[in-house]
Amino acid sequence: MVEKLWGGRFEASLDKQTEEFGASIKFEQRLAPFDLKGSLAHVKMLGETGIITAEEATTIANGLIKVEEKLMKGQIEFKIENEDIHMNMETYLHDEIGPLAGKLHTARSRNDQVATDMHLYLKSVLSDLLKALRTLRETIVNLSVNHVDTLFPGYTHLQHAQPISFAQHLMAYYQMFTRDFERFEFNVKHTDMNPLGAAALAGTTFPIDRELTTNLLQFEKAYANSMDAVSDRDFILEFLSNSSLLMMHLSRLCEELLLWSSHEFNFVSLSDNYSTGSSIMPQKKNPDMAELIRGKSGRVYGNLMSLLTVMKGLPLTYNKDLQEDKEGMFDSADTILTSLSVMDGMLSTMTVNRVNMEKATEQDFSNATELADYLAAKGLPFREAHELVGQLVLTCIKKGIYLQEVSLKDYQALSQLIEEDVYEILQSRTAVSRRNSLGGTGFESIKKQIEQAKKELQK
Ligand code: ARG
Repeated sequence: MVEKLWGGRFEASLDKQTEEFGASIKFEQRLAPFDLKGSLAHVKMLGETGIITAEEATTIANGLIKVEEKLMKGQIEFKIENEDIHMNMETYLHDEIGPLAGKLHTARSRNDQVATDMHLYLKSVLSDLLKALRTLRETIVNLSVNHVDTLFPGYTHLQHAQPISFAQHLMAYYQMFTRDFERFEFNVKHTDMNPLGAAALAGTTFPIDRELTTNLLQFEKAYANSMDAVSDRDFILEFLSNSSLLMMHLSRLCEELLLWSSHEFNFVSLSDNYSTGSSIMPQKKNPDMAELIRGKSGRVYGNLMSLLTVMKGLPLTYNKDLQEDKEGMFDSADTILTSLSVMDGMLSTMTVNRVNMEKATEQDFSNATELADYLAAKGLPFREAHELVGQLVLTCIKKGIYLQEVSLKDYQALSQLIEEDVYEILQSRTAVSRRNSLGGTGFESIKKQIEQAKKELQK
């Protein structure tokens, strides 16, 4: 039986099932490098403040480096009996340097230790995440550059509404992912804080130097209150909440890709690299990856709900419930990082069926607003123009023709205001090109949006 590091007060050993149930090592092994990093900073501080001798500090630090090397070589075996990452690492340190290892935990508790590990881990995830989000935003901008003048049906209620540029549609997603980027950037602010030195909850009698560990661990600042330091999980909740919004955006885009790649729409074709086949239907090419990202938004929302629920009734300070903060965070981190990378791959390799997109803007009544605006610009009150065009659309539907196929004679019978130039107005390209109001779909407006986005991406 492995002797527990907290075993002194106990007469009997832990029930096997209890041990299993309580152990977090099963799912937190990825914290190992961060745990070692935290310990290295802590021991350096213990040495510099004279809490332990400089020589002791050096021996412990060298021991930790040896453990780190073993970890990198995959020579560490994590043991349930050692409960969590902290005690697993300390046991290996003990194997390296003997009883001196016991001095590492001076002026520290697992409560501030685990919080430190989580802050360090999430900081590194956020840095990867910001890079991935930047890449996706760049991909969207590059795609948009190629499709400024690709006409596309704009929808409301999933019904053709008004013709737009495909780039306008894409750039809407650029804006969503930019807001996600900003939210995660803000998330860094509350993650970049050092809880180490809070000890169990109340600080310590030892003359520790929290500024020093804060600098060594490259945290922006130290937590101002020891009780907040060990019980705060807001930084994880912010991450889970931001991740949920991000997944919602990815999922909406996936839904569109699924529609667009269907036989009925036939607007895009996803690359074989991101599609799978059917085990029974030989003709099938399924956009599984887009469906999977859409589906995975469920677990990411779930992780947010789980932790919010875990936290809501917790009295200060540390409670074992807090151990439930990890799996959801790891799962969301893995899910969003992979989803971002798959989405980036799908977008940058898909084939855009420009001809079909443009055709879809011509064989419909999405130019009806153009005709109403045309009449309104010539002085007819817009409500009357709307009514007139509405009636004309109904007549056209009955006759099986579109507005651009109505003869000039019929137009003039409808209103004397209509002249030959109406046919130009009814073209979807004209409709798009004229919408240069700020943020509109006009070609000039989109070019401005793209220029602005490029500037933002250079920052
Ligand atoms: N495994 C624990 C967790 O993840 C580490 C902290 C343990 N602290 C304690 N007082 N039992 O939360």
